[in-house]
Amino acid sequence: MDNLSDPHLKYHTFEKIGSLHDDNITVYYSINLNGDFKRGIYLTMTNDDIIGEFGIKGGGLNQQFDSGKTNDMHICIDDNYQGYGLSKIMIEYMIDMIYKDIPNINGEQMIFIDADASAGFWDKIGMIESNRYGYDRNPKYADREGAGYEKYITINKLYKFSKS
Ligand SMILES: CC(C)(COP(=O)(O)OP(=O)(O)OC[C@H]1O[C@@H](n2cnc3c(N)ncnc32)[C@H](O)[C@@H]1OP(=O)(O)O)[C@@H](O)C(=O)NCCC(=O)NCCS
Repeated sequence: MDNLSDPHLKYHTFEKIGSLHDDNITVYYSINLNGDFKRGIYLTMTNDDIIGEFGIKGGGLNQQFDSGKTNDMHICIDDNYQGYGLSKIMIEYMIDMIYKDIPNINGEQMIFIDADASAGFWDKIGMIESNRYGYDRNPKYADREGAGYEKYITINKLYKFSKS
C-alpha cells in the first residue's frame, strides 16, 4: 500500500488521533474540505507505510451530509494485517470523528458503495441492496442520492457494527 509521504497524498493533512498494538500502529485522520468532502482514517507503521485505509467522500454544503448528494466509502487493509479486527477499529474511529465534527448528524444518513467487490465483507457489516441502484439509467433521477450505487448502510448501523 502507500506511504504517507507519497506525492498523491501531499494535499492531505494528517492528524494523529490514536495508536494501537503498543504504539506499533498509528491512527491518523485526514479531512479534505476542498471540493467534495473527503474523510480518511489511515493506519500506519512507524515508517509511515499505510497498512489500512477507510474513506468516506461526498458532496455537501456547510457540512458533508447536508446536501442530499451521495456519500460513498471504501476500505482496505494490507493482506498481511487482515483478520485482526482493524477494519472495525478504523470504522469506529471514523464515526467518532464524524460525531465530533457534526454532533447533530442524522444517524439515518446513508453511506453507499458503488459496486460490491468485497467478497462478503459489506454484507457482513449489514449493508443492503439500494433500491436506487437503477436510478442512473433514467437521467431524470441521476442526481438523486445513491443513484447507481449498489448497497447502502446508515451511520447508526455502521457504528453499531464497529462496536459489535
Ligand atoms: C474487507 C477488509 C477491509 C476486511 O478487513 P479485516 O481487517 O480483515 O476485517 P476485520 O478483521 O476487522 O473483520 C471484521 C469482521 O468482518 C468479518 N469479515 C472480514 N472479511 C470478511 C469477508 N470477506 N466476508 C465476510 N465477513 C468478513 C470478520 O470475520 C469480522 O467479523 P466479526 O467481527 O464477527 O469477528 C479486507 O479483507 C480487505 O482489505 N479486503 C480487500 C479490499 C476490499 O475488498 N475492500 C472492500 C471493498 S472497498
